[in-house]
Amino acid sequence: MSQFPDLRMRRRRSSSWMRAMLTEHRLHPSDFIWPLFICEGEGEEQPIGALRGVSRWSIDRLVDQAKAARDAGIPAIALFPNTPDDKRTDAEALNPHNLICRAVKAVKDAVPDIGIMTDVALDPYTSHGHDGVLAADGSVDNDATVEILAKQAVVQAEAGADIVAPSDMMDGRIAAIRDALEEAGHASTAIMAYAAKYASAFYGPFREAVGSGDRLKGDKKGYQMNPANSTEALVEVELDIAEGADFVMVKPGLAYLDVVARLRDNFDVPIFAYMTSGEYAMIEEAAAAGAGDRDAMLMESLTAFKRAGATGILTYHALEVARKLA
Ligand code: PBG
Repeated sequence: MSQFPDLRMRRRRSSSWMRAMLTEHRLHPSDFIWPLFICEGEGEEQPIGALRGVSRWSIDRLVDQAKAARDAGIPAIALFPNTPDDKRTDAEALNPHNLICRAVKAVKDAVPDIGIMTDVALDPYTSHGHDGVLAADGSVDNDATVEILAKQAVVQAEAGADIVAPSDMMDGRIAAIRDALEEAGHASTAIMAYAAKYASAFYGPFREAVGSGDRLKGDKKGYQMNPANSTEALVEVELDIAEGADFVMVKPGLAYLDVVARLRDNFDVPIFAYMTSGEYAMIEEAAAAGAGDRDAMLMESLTAFKRAGATGILTYHALEVARKLA
């Protein structure tokens, strides 16, 4: 490599066209999966306090959001239900007419050309806000939970979900779900494993959105990963791929881009990263407090996911950014 003054790096940054010509990573609408919250009712839009600019939608209005996403070039949406209080039981997760299944069907009918991803976990249904059922000692019972999750995934696939996404971090759930899907005739349903999901403080606004936050007793450290670990993420991903996951996910995103980069170096599978509700709020609240240019902070953050090697990004900002990019 030549040296200064023959090599002047600033020559490469000297004009806007030069910078454009030398750009290594670019965002595209097809990079995004858009998470959407749903509620019962008709014509409903319920703004979520902790997520400025994000709402829960009743199914009829969810369909309009899905159309807007498709028109903006977003390939897939991810649905999360806010289950009414009187239906918060494990059984509701397996009800083929529950909110999530009705939402999937409505979107499939009206917008058949957008992908639909559903969340496999019990926290929108349990009275205690945990992702699984509790054992006598109060911990989440792994094997009993996995049995229910496999059934939940089949119910969602039957409703029309294209991708089922277990976000629960139970051991062995990918294999159980893959077997159950295969057996039920859903061989083409994909599994996006929340493979490296950390016990993070960045999920707060999400828990308000699905109504599990106030219910949650204790924390999720007994199943979600320790934020201090990254080698462990390699093991989690290896297991999930071996068990039949099609894609893996790292969550949260921004504080874990080192994990995305390590996985990219070690595995040849599509890797997604989830810019969580707390990270969304961080940008919005910082901008509202006058701490910086919102749009610039947002685009810089999203580009960082691509730089780290992510195949795609789950973000509540997806529609806005996809429209801007188009
Ligand atoms: C729960 C689930 C969570 C999120 C997605 N699925 C929260 C949790 O694990 O408590 C978080 C998403 C976000 O914060 O945006 N199964």
